Amino acid sequence: MNQTITPWEVKGEIDYNKLIKEFGVSKIDKKLLERLEKIAKKKNMKLHHFLTREIFIAHRDLDFFLNEYEKGNKVFLYTGRGPSGEIHLGHAIPLMFTKYLQDLFDADLYFQFTDDEKFLFKKDLEMDKVSEYTKQNMLDVIAFGFDPKKTHFIIDTVHANLLYPEAIKVAKKITFSTVKAVFGFTNETNIGSIFFTSMQAVPAFLPCKLKNRKMACLIPHAIDQDPHFRVTRDILPKLGYYKPSSIQCRFLPGLQGIKNGKMSSSEGFSINMSDDPKTVKNKINKYAFSGGKATLEEHRKHGGNPDIDVSYQWLVFFEPDDKKLKKVYDDYRSGKLLSGELKAILIEKINQFLKEHQEKRKRAEKQLDSFVLRV
Ligand code: TYM
Repeated sequence: MNQTITPWEVKGEIDYNKLIKEFGVSKIDKKLLERLEKIAKKKNMKLHHFLTREIFIAHRDLDFFLNEYEKGNKVFLYTGRGPSGEIHLGHAIPLMFTKYLQDLFDADLYFQFTDDEKFLFKKDLEMDKVSEYTKQNMLDVIAFGFDPKKTHFIIDTVHANLLYPEAIKVAKKITFSTVKAVFGFTNETNIGSIFFTSMQAVPAFLPCKLKNRKMACLIPHAIDQDPHFRVTRDILPKLGYYKPSSIQCRFLPGLQGIKNGKMSSSEGFSINMSDDPKTVKNKINKYAFSGGKATLEEHRKHGGNPDIDVSYQWLVFFEPDDKKLKKVYDDYRSGKLLSGELKAILIEKINQFLKEHQEKRKRAEKQLDSFVLRV
């Protein structure tokens, strides 16, 4: 199996069990799920289907974060987005889950937009374009329903006065040989990129600095971002802060199938949050990799394979109802449900999701100001 996973490149079919071992993260076990369920019940909430279906699959020190929360100590959440284009359905996964965690823990969320990162890492991307994406992405993030009083946007170049003095403290403790080993940098890598991970480290302790108290931090993200936080976790105790905890998801695959890593805009085969119903329908019908058989007769006789069928795999992420999902699985396996019919179910689900998002996004512009961190 050939897999490459860094914050900037994900290639190949991913063996998550192997990756969990390689990265040294822990699988979310039954005990942790029970603890989370207990907390959820107290809030009249349920365990999110991203947890029960092993979409959020791994963590670092989630137990520590839950201990702090249960002791009644103040905790906070931190996540982010690198604004290099439009937000797509893959990015929606950690966003939906972060909203759930904000409700669950009633916690402040610090949300970083790494405009500097995208400028530094994307060869042909100019800063004015990145700034435009940043503004557009902020509206999308707001549309996920975060609490304006408890959500604080940090934009790296805008909040440089807050971030830079802290980033240099992190940077001073990281050597070039460490970032070469962790991120695969070479002598040809530009020096801004080499420094960058220290910027992504800062929001994991900035609230502690601002409030002058130690607080546990939980970072929801997809597993590609783990290398940043592996480095961050080594440094933060040396600066007098707790190691941040993290909770990590696997990737929503692109339309071309699970053998091709994650959904990513640069590879094509993605669906954007702004896509209209017709575009969604065309993309899914044309590109969604099918686990169906070659002919109708064969399909009716032998059934399809939902495990490799992108439409089914996407429903695992986007259809929260376990019973409905199981019925689709069984009907597809038995050959009762055809590939075209399965695609139609997915198209309706995604279009409904996007319709609601796009309506909320229209109202986000007015709220934008109140989300930007002010100190
Ligand atoms: P970015 O913009 O590449 O991705 C934003 C978030 O989406 C996750 N992600 C996915 N999740 C599921 N399926 C996919 N196909 C998929 N593609 C991307 C990413 O893992 C990430 O959680 N450097 C970061 C921005 C950042 C950040 C953070 C992210 C700054 N601070 C803290 C997470 C946590 C970036 O470029 O993310």
